[in-house]
Amino acid sequence: MHSLVIFASGAGSNAAAIIAWFKASGKAKVSLIVCNKPGAGVLEIAAREGIPVLLTEKGSFSNPGTVARISECEPSLIVLAGYMWKVPDVLVRMYPTSIINIHPALLPAYGGKGMYGSHVHEAVVAAGEKESGITIHYVNEEYDKGSIIMQAHCPVLPGDTPADLAKRIHSLEHFYYPRTIEYLLDNMK
Ligand code: GAR
Repeated sequence: MHSLVIFASGAGSNAAAIIAWFKASGKAKVSLIVCNKPGAGVLEIAAREGIPVLLTEKGSFSNPGTVARISECEPSLIVLAGYMWKVPDVLVRMYPTSIINIHPALLPAYGGKGMYGSHVHEAVVAAGEKESGITIHYVNEEYDKGSIIMQAHCPVLPGDTPADLAKRIHSLEHFYYPRTIEYLLDNMK
């Protein structure tokens, strides 16, 4: 069975969708949740599901024990699902082709430093865009610049607030992220 390590520091709705999907499919197990935010909603999900948690703080990744805790899970994929820090270069070098991220917009638009979560939806609505979407991509050493695996689009409707758009984007994420992960696992050499 494949092992997944999820990095998440928010409410954890994507983490929950991925956990539920793979509990049903039986093709992978979430071995560890890495989180940098004490009190984050995803920690409750981890506790409910009995998934171990690694809480990271600034500087944690210079401690070899942190990286060792992740590598001992032997992850087929490291899945970023609302992890708000840049992934440390040491991990990108260790897993150059197996860290993926989901971004709540159509990259390369609305990506880069500071563009995360609600900030993205606020910027998209403020710019009067008629369309937004999601991007699932590999992670390299630059923010939101790794090669794109898939994108899905949705409309931005007249009168949408950032919260309305966030809801639509979350539905796309919950649908596509687990399926894309499974596709990648099925096609691994
Ligand atoms: C998701 O919308 C994800 O795309 C976004 O954070 C949200 C986390 O929601 N990630 C980024 O903005 C990364 N740049 P969740 O905690 O409910 O899964």
